Amino acid sequence: MKIAIFVSGRGSNLEAILKARKQGLLTSDFIVISNNPKAKALHIAQTYNVEHYAFEPKPKKIFEEKVLLLLKEKHIDYIVLAGFMAILSKEFVKEYEKRIINIHPSLLPSFPGIDVHKRAIERGVKFSGCTVHFVNEHVDEGCIIAQAITSISYDDDEESLAKKILNLEHKLLPQVISWLEQDRIYIKDGKAHIKDEKNGSTFNPDIEVFNE
Ligand code: GRF
Repeated sequence: MKIAIFVSGRGSNLEAILKARKQGLLTSDFIVISNNPKAKALHIAQTYNVEHYAFEPKPKKIFEEKVLLLLKEKHIDYIVLAGFMAILSKEFVKEYEKRIINIHPSLLPSFPGIDVHKRAIERGVKFSGCTVHFVNEHVDEGCIIAQAITSISYDDDEESLAKKILNLEHKLLPQVISWLEQDRIYIKDGKAHIKDEKNGSTFNPDIEVFNE
């Protein structure tokens, strides 16, 4: 399988994916695409000897045209948004319908968008986490594939919560990519399900695995 990872900044999720690849837990060929030529993530791609490309983000139409050309040229099967800080156009999403996944640092549908940890703490929720979902034309609204949770304690602040959730992200995203590689994710009645590895029946990922 050929997967393009879209990044914009720090790249810690990218690193978790490339580490999993190095350890043999993932088998895909990856390329990295950034809309920020200065993204630290590009150095991570370089360190892992992964092909990487950066395009100026504006105008968005030109950015997307260049990216689509590259994706076709490289025969990309799936796109993983790993800290990609731009909203893809409806037309772009249509080209890769049900083949784009995103990681979001909250338990969707709670707290879509930005400033999620601040809003979670202000709202006083007791649990938060991260969500991997398919991307559709609405931001953070595509079908949910998997989630991982953590509790929020009274002394957590934005920074400590972000750290806890980032640790979960680094486990959940490679896990979902591995399910994609094994063709175990399917959508039925508008919901994503994971097939059981052994007998093909629907499997309920054990969220305890990710609980911290
Ligand atoms: C992560 O929290 C991810 O959920 C969000 O953006 C952040 C990216 O972090 N979409 P990194 O660039 O992977 O370190």
